Amino acid sequence: MQKVKTLSDISCRGKRVFVRVDFNVPIDDRGNVLDDSRIVAALPTIRYLIQNSARIILASHLGRPKGEMVAKYSLRNVASVLAKYIGQPVLFLTDCVGEEVLAEVTKMIEGRVILLENLRFHKEETANDEEFSKQLASLADIYVNDAFGSAHRAHASTEGITRFVQESVAGFLMEKELQFLGTKIAEAKHPFLVILGGAKVSDKIKVIDNLLKKADTMLIGGAMAYTFLAANGNATGSSMVEMDNIQTAKNAIQKAKETEIKLLLPIDHVVTSTLNTKTNTIDSTSYAELDIPDGKIGVDIGPQTIELFGKEIKAASTILWNGPMGVFEIQQSSIGTFTIAKLVAESNAMSIIGGGDSAKAIKESGYADKVSFVSTGGGASLEFLGGDVLPGVEALMK
Ligand code: 3PG
Repeated sequence: MQKVKTLSDISCRGKRVFVRVDFNVPIDDRGNVLDDSRIVAALPTIRYLIQNSARIILASHLGRPKGEMVAKYSLRNVASVLAKYIGQPVLFLTDCVGEEVLAEVTKMIEGRVILLENLRFHKEETANDEEFSKQLASLADIYVNDAFGSAHRAHASTEGITRFVQESVAGFLMEKELQFLGTKIAEAKHPFLVILGGAKVSDKIKVIDNLLKKADTMLIGGAMAYTFLAANGNATGSSMVEMDNIQTAKNAIQKAKETEIKLLLPIDHVVTSTLNTKTNTIDSTSYAELDIPDGKIGVDIGPQTIELFGKEIKAASTILWNGPMGVFEIQQSSIGTFTIAKLVAESNAMSIIGGGDSAKAIKESGYADKVSFVSTGGGASLEFLGGDVLPGVEALMK
């Protein structure tokens, strides 16, 4: 993979450094930040800039306000969370462009931090508008992209701005993400085990294709496994099967056979009679062997599958895990996901968690600090692992 220039390659003393971060964090009705992992993940870059006497201007999106000023998507509360971590005030500005913003940025002193209001309060952000990109660029001497989670978006703050600043580099989080999801996967020590889960095959087609070229073993769990089982001719009861993707699953199974990659599917299941994904409730659960009886819905991998998958986890030198093994938000169907989390954390392999729901699952399991890396990306991780060049990363290479 082509290397991008990073913060350590340049001098930022006294410079106005515009840092695109991904502070798109979950916030409750009262404005409390529910998970600050993305804020914490950006701290190495922010602290480095403070120590190196830069003038730091942080910018992010939050949610999808579609160009409107929507109070619940304000970044104001994020500023106070960040201030606690860095042990100094963060000046929150109520816009991200305009005369007042420019005035504040111009008079800021070295080592100070400004957080701009949500970029997506301007529709020009997602439109990658040239004028808006220029306005953002006018705030900065140097542009740092530390928002891996947003690098799959060609927006003004991730792509457009790079055309109008003198210097564009990757922040330390971006660098780490590219290293783990890029280099370390490309140069993975064998046996290389890929564990895939989550709801839909359609979300992971590219990831499956791309990783079947690299992995020695692929384990498939979560709801997407039922589409694979259906493709194999197994009974899946009333489980979620994507009929449109049966052929895709068949192709993947065939490809794995041809290239002698071990592709393992669940051999038993936790099932229920009703599942409400909106309220996250299920009926009582029961056990099903490989073939799921009529009317039953698979919601987790069963104990024999955990044992089967566990053996592969123990034998692996590199593990990439993306997607939960079941409906882990519900206690009765969380054992598969949390046991896999434990086994991955306890293995001697280099372990990379591919973001999104699997990042949430590893955090909830309590093992997040026992794995080698947890990606902060959701869609960005999937696109990157699928082999796509992310526009936000490509822009740093130019
Ligand atoms: C994410 O949470 O995946 C990123 O912050 C990107 O958000 P978006 O899908 O709204 O662009």
